[in-house]
Amino acid sequence: MLEPNHSLKLRKTLDEKARMNFVSGIRAHVLNDMASGMRAVWDGEVEPRFRRKRRRGAKTGPEVHNAIKSNEYFKFYSSLRVTAQDLVWQSVFPPLDRERDQLKAEALALRKNKNIGSLTLDPKLEVPRYVSAIDVHLMAGNYDGEYDTDDVAAGALYDNGFAVFSFGLMGRNHDDIGQSIAGFIRRKYPHLKPKKILDLGCTIGHNTGSWKDHFPAAEVHGIDVAAPCLRYAHARAQVQNRAVHFQQMNAEHLDFPDASFDVVFSSMFLHELPKKSIGKVLAEAYRVLKPGGLMLHMELPPNSQLSPYDAFYLDWDSAYNNEPFYKPFRDMKPQQVCKDAGFDPKKFVQHVVPSVGWYGEQVLAEAATHQQDVDSDKTGRLADGVRWYCFGAFK
Ligand SMILES: C[S@@+](CC[C@H](N)C(=O)[O-])C[C@H]1O[C@@H](n2cnc3c(N)ncnc32)[C@H](O)[C@@H]1O
Repeated sequence: MLEPNHSLKLRKTLDEKARMNFVSGIRAHVLNDMASGMRAVWDGEVEPRFRRKRRRGAKTGPEVHNAIKSNEYFKFYSSLRVTAQDLVWQSVFPPLDRERDQLKAEALALRKNKNIGSLTLDPKLEVPRYVSAIDVHLMAGNYDGEYDTDDVAAGALYDNGFAVFSFGLMGRNHDDIGQSIAGFIRRKYPHLKPKKILDLGCTIGHNTGSWKDHFPAAEVHGIDVAAPCLRYAHARAQVQNRAVHFQQMNAEHLDFPDASFDVVFSSMFLHELPKKSIGKVLAEAYRVLKPGGLMLHMELPPNSQLSPYDAFYLDWDSAYNNEPFYKPFRDMKPQQVCKDAGFDPKKFVQHVVPSVGWYGEQVLAEAATHQQDVDSDKTGRLADGVRWYCFGAFK
């Protein structure tokens, strides 16, 4: 496990660190070694049986899921993965319970004494039920749970849980997605030169700050519905000397004027929204973009571009990890979703961006000058050789 490299550090005892490392290790084992084992079980055992019975191969992810779900290896994989997911958050609770007041005091002091960027909360904002009523990916209290005034606990839970969850693959700052994609876009579209950038569903701003690094002259905004995450995001950005403007806002009804941004970005956001809301969010992105501006969403690749096995594999979270909107989102066709929101289909873009942390700057720079196909074997998985899929459109 890589510890976050900013202050607002959650102090942990050696026992607590050991527990977190243990959970990280189990997750790495399940998602790398056991995932390979499960693929071998499918290829060598379950798929041939399916083929004999149906006289054809599986055509969809649900067919693979139905065929494999009674298999002992799949059951063990799934049960261990669910348990490890629960332990991710459980491993953060003891130090968080002890240090919560201290973190809150640090965040408040940063806001009072330093105050670069800004934090604007809206106590009247109604948090949508698809956030307030669900503990998404088993995170107790979800993003918006508040236990105190000026609470930052949900942000600290997410930040420190993410360190355990990602077993070091996202970098110390958990910003591999942001650094890779912002670095890619800067090279791929040198004419863009954005003056204003917006990150939707920014949570603790870990991927928002990357846009400031790559476009230092730009005004960078991050919005989210969850106040405790935004307080934490603002404090975290100040510790890192990044001037980012965080606002509590619903991406379905943005409080920004028409044509005010050059880039509207999101990462790992849309798959947590119901279909109807996705349509509204993209229509809002269209509205607030300037002509010639770019909307870009990092997500796992759509099922239509994956093999049935990969579709099944990436949809696992929808069935077992409290991610009810994940599969319906991944069943949507990105090009159609952008068109429905008002974008010209000829201006649709999709990219597979190599992880800068994994492959380095040189590979990222080369990727920006070559068009690549979606490679379903590696894209978006926390496994060796990570790459990030993103789609969107120019206005
Ligand atoms: C999976 S997290 C996004 C993670 C982050 N963007 C990243 O790069 O990893 C989803 C975030 O979206 C926020 N959210 C959900 N619905 C929203 C909405 N309608 N408007 C704004 N934020 C929303 C949640 O509060 C949560 O912080």
